[in-house]
Amino acid sequence: MTIKAVVFDAYGTLYDVQSVAAVTEEAFPGYGEMITQVWRIKQLEYTWLRSLMRRYQDFSVITADSLAYTLRVLGLKHDAGVFERIMEKYLHLDLYPDAAAALAAMRGRKLAILSNGSPGMLNALVHNSGLDRVLDATISIDSRKIFKPAPDAYTLIESVLRVPPAEVLFVSSNPWDACGAKAFGLNVAWIERVTPEAMALACVKNDSVAPLTMFKAIRTQMDELGLEPDYRIHALAELPALVAAHES
Ligand code: 2OP
Repeated sequence: MTIKAVVFDAYGTLYDVQSVAAVTEEAFPGYGEMITQVWRIKQLEYTWLRSLMRRYQDFSVITADSLAYTLRVLGLKHDAGVFERIMEKYLHLDLYPDAAAALAAMRGRKLAILSNGSPGMLNALVHNSGLDRVLDATISIDSRKIFKPAPDAYTLIESVLRVPPAEVLFVSSNPWDACGAKAFGLNVAWIERVTPEAMALACVKNDSVAPLTMFKAIRTQMDELGLEPDYRIHALAELPALVAAHES
């Protein structure tokens, strides 16, 4: 297999969605972690619910709706300014520390993002983090009006990059996305950033389970969907060697 393009999921894969925690904690001391986890869980859930209901709204609407849900159910009163300040962090999420170097080391192949994010959110994020200098394309599913893991969303890779699925390596740390990409027919590298051993340890060490541990249990571990990613890696830093090993 020759890998002509390496395509990345954005949120949770190149960008750390947990990096909103400082802003949520600052806005609502004591609630930061709970807000961060419920927000992300609901955000993803709304993409799937809206896709099933065929009531597409773009990811910026979904991200705002899921934050509104989170603050409401936790009984947190707020004004528009606080809400906007939290939302703003989505345009300035932290890159994983090894992201820029991994991308730079794979120059020469087509490098792109395929994300559920809206074009406006993604373009701002990619620009603010400097990845616009290394990426050939930032592809939003918005033109298909259906979210990953719907097969239609993954067809955009070939439409935009002109590289067939067999020559694409798709990289995601989101298990649902890795499974969706595999089901569609892409070569898939799943980033297992949290091991089951670390999960077990986090549970036994504490009297009560933290929201982050709960999040990791439901959103970072491989799903039971009868699909196996082709590669299991633990960090973006492992990618350049993996891609080079497929040089023909
Ligand atoms: C993405 O970037 C939502 O993490 C998902 O497509």
